[in-house]
Amino acid sequence: MKKELVIVIDFGGQYNQLVARRVRECNVYCEIYSYKTDIEKIKAMNPKGIILTGGPNSCYEADSPTYKKELFELGIPVLGLCYGAQLMMHVLGGKVESAPVREYGKTEVLVDKKDSKIFEGVSEKTICWMSHFDYISQVAPGFEITAHTADCPVAAAENTEAGLYAIQYHPEVLHTAEGTKMLSNFVLGVCGCAGDWKMDAFVENTIREIREKVGDGRVLLALSGGVDSSVAAGLLSRAIGKQLTCVFVDHGLLRKDEGDEVEGVFGPNGQFDLNFIRVNAQQRYYDKLAGVTEPEAKRKIIGEEFIRIFEEEAKKIGAVDFLAQGTIYPDVVESGLGGESGVIKSHHNVGGLPEHVDFKDIIEPLRDLFKDEVRKAGLELGIPERLVFRQPFPGPGLGIRIIGEVTEEKVKIVQDADAIYREEIANAGLDKNINQYFAALTNMRSVGVMGDERTYDYAVALRAVTTVDFMTAEAAEIPYDVLNKVMSRIINEVKGVNRVFYDLTSKPPGTIEFE
Ligand code: XMP
Repeated sequence: MKKELVIVIDFGGQYNQLVARRVRECNVYCEIYSYKTDIEKIKAMNPKGIILTGGPNSCYEADSPTYKKELFELGIPVLGLCYGAQLMMHVLGGKVESAPVREYGKTEVLVDKKDSKIFEGVSEKTICWMSHFDYISQVAPGFEITAHTADCPVAAAENTEAGLYAIQYHPEVLHTAEGTKMLSNFVLGVCGCAGDWKMDAFVENTIREIREKVGDGRVLLALSGGVDSSVAAGLLSRAIGKQLTCVFVDHGLLRKDEGDEVEGVFGPNGQFDLNFIRVNAQQRYYDKLAGVTEPEAKRKIIGEEFIRIFEEEAKKIGAVDFLAQGTIYPDVVESGLGGESGVIKSHHNVGGLPEHVDFKDIIEPLRDLFKDEVRKAGLELGIPERLVFRQPFPGPGLGIRIIGEVTEEKVKIVQDADAIYREEIANAGLDKNINQYFAALTNMRSVGVMGDERTYDYAVALRAVTTVDFMTAEAAEIPYDVLNKVMSRIINEVKGVNRVFYDLTSKPPGTIEFE
């Protein structure tokens, strides 16, 4: 099945991934390309619609990102957002200049053209998120103004005959109350997309594509038990069964019983047809980490040891044809589209690629999906909910939740404390509202009293944050009685702990993890 495609052209705005996500929420498939992408390539993809994103520049300045006028003459509907809207006007003969009043934040937008397709079903006065210092002072010939604000004469404009639409605000951010409706009006109403991009079709198509690509070859996957690698394993297993070998390295820094859970799902008694190799490397890691206290040194050892073990296992298996990876779309976008968004962080999957594994090609079955879509695919494949909705867990695991030296004894303490904490958060019904929560072990011991005995034990720190993107975060407000119960259980049930702290620090200045 050839899927309907909407293309998002990236001009460097901070919300560009959100634009693509919102379009996909309308069940329309969508991909992001740099503004440097050649128009012939865009044409060849035959998109049903094109969306131009925001960006930090002024379109009338000489070196600012731009696009050929031809883009607006392809007969494909185009929606420009913020910078994209200004660029559309600038290229087509309207006027864009520095605004006398900059608009930033939630702003009331008044719809002037009630029968505009973009505003179908949208309130006449609607709150939108504005963030601009330039404004459209004059629309291009053929355009009519469809909405304004108190300070901005052109909040939206359109040339319906040419299929061109401009919006000054950001419909993709949730602060724009009816933004998703407006984007859906564009992709479904204007572009005529059917909105039939669904997970079951994705799963079916991907399974077919994997079979075609792999043939009778062999595939190797490093399975961590995290959402992405688990869903990749599920997909590959359905596609090629025992041609897939998954290597699961238990580094002894997993949460309580986690290694067994992963084995339960993907191992010989699980529901997937594949070769499962569990490497019990706990002791090897504890030996390597003995005496090491510096956080970066710990991270490095944990990462390198993983690669080494994976390579050793791969060597035993012999040459494989494909190395599979759980790369997802945000990884692809964040490694840079070659456009303005640039490299936010180096590709975490490719960064960790083993050098000494003999394979011909890489296979990344999730590279087109956002995280929420990966989860949907996981459910579709029958992967248990507790795995699919698992909270983020860092690659170095408990190694960065034990401040200072890692020892087997400390791992046991933090595992037990963390299991109690998670259990009580779930019992209180708070688990859906907190994005990440865990116990960590401080490197501090202090004096206490238990019964009639003096104790000299460790302090556990509880962390819980609410966050949208994990780049900034707030400490979650957990009811005192829940914290109190967690404290009391940890002190009573976990040997070696005599104090419990709750971490109130936001990010920044703190990070979510402790090291
Ligand atoms: P920080 O501590 O930087 O964490 O505020 C932000 C998010 O990233 C996760 N995290 C990691 N994930 N490998 C990972 O796969 C890592 O080395 C790593 N370090 C932090 C962290 O759990 C949080 O969700």
